[in-house]
Amino acid sequence: MSTHPETTAVTAGRPQVQPDAALNPSVVLTSTFHSGGPIGYGRYGNQTWSALEEAISALEGGETLAFSSGMAAISAVFSILPIGAPIVASNQGYSGVMSLLNSFHASGRLEVRFVDVVNTDEVIAAMKGAALVWLESPTNPCLDVADLPTLIAEAKRLGIGVAVDNTFATPLVQNPLAMGADIVMHSVTKFLSGHSDVLMGSLSTNDPALYKRLHDSRSFNGSIPGPFEAWLALRGLRTFPLRFNKSQESAKALVALLQEHPKVTRVRYPGFGAILSFEVDGTPEETQKVCDSSTMIAHATSLGGVESLWERRRRWPIESPSVPEQLIRLSVGCEHVDDIWADITKALAAI
Ligand SMILES: Cc1ncc(COP(=O)(O)O)c(C=O)c1O
Repeated sequence: MSTHPETTAVTAGRPQVQPDAALNPSVVLTSTFHSGGPIGYGRYGNQTWSALEEAISALEGGETLAFSSGMAAISAVFSILPIGAPIVASNQGYSGVMSLLNSFHASGRLEVRFVDVVNTDEVIAAMKGAALVWLESPTNPCLDVADLPTLIAEAKRLGIGVAVDNTFATPLVQNPLAMGADIVMHSVTKFLSGHSDVLMGSLSTNDPALYKRLHDSRSFNGSIPGPFEAWLALRGLRTFPLRFNKSQESAKALVALLQEHPKVTRVRYPGFGAILSFEVDGTPEETQKVCDSSTMIAHATSLGGVESLWERRRRWPIESPSVPEQLIRLSVGCEHVDDIWADITKALAAI
């Protein structure tokens, strides 16, 4: 039976119902399994990972593999490409991915064609002869949105693989596998787990052969999650739709308020989701001071937790120079929106 995401998040990945069976999966702490079963060894599989993977698949589609972090999941995708393979990727996105792709391009590991994902014609023009299109949409932290249905359809017409980082939008907003993408990636660290207490990643795919190659990559590179982390992520996932919807509602209200604030020059928001970025009318130091002046909003990197967080992205040397110095990325949490707004206005008054 197909259920609403709120229901799916609560019901998926549970042990089979039988008398005295536990409602929740156990944390399976073992490196070693008795012979004869489908797992074989602790680097190949684990029952707690499987419960989480089943729940992510129920929301996102396909078959899912859990990884030790979002970056580990992303690295697994690139690891299965041949040396020097041409790929198309956004010229603005999560700084960790940008750093990885820049180093791959410099070393010749991959030939990366960097494009402006908002410019659909430019992305399509770069696809000729590519092995993979890597799409992050919306992008971190500028919140650029790619025309996923058009780009995925064109890549498929050309026989090119497509992977989508769905961390910001989540399956509540878009389902890239349903649009025809080959792989959907999540930093499970963010909205899916939602409590800023676990690092994990995932890949989901409808293609059994691709699943096997990615599974082999995880097994032989050893980029596996800990069972307790998988359990924590699944526990967090139970409330993911509730948290996301609440944070999204608050983000929309905050966008409207920020747009009217005299010290804010620009607000970026794709119209959905719980992340927004805004630019402060001030120097980089003053922008930094705003982030340091909040009481409740934590001045910290990361996003997607119940706690509101913000930071000036350019404080990181690896962040792209195309990101404005005065840009603050705000991850809207589950606190009351009036309290978040009171904290923002107090912090902006500090400059
Ligand atoms: C959009 C996006 N993708 C991937 C990652 C990497 O995930 P992780 O930190 O879990 O390795 C991040 C982390 O911030 C992210 O924001």
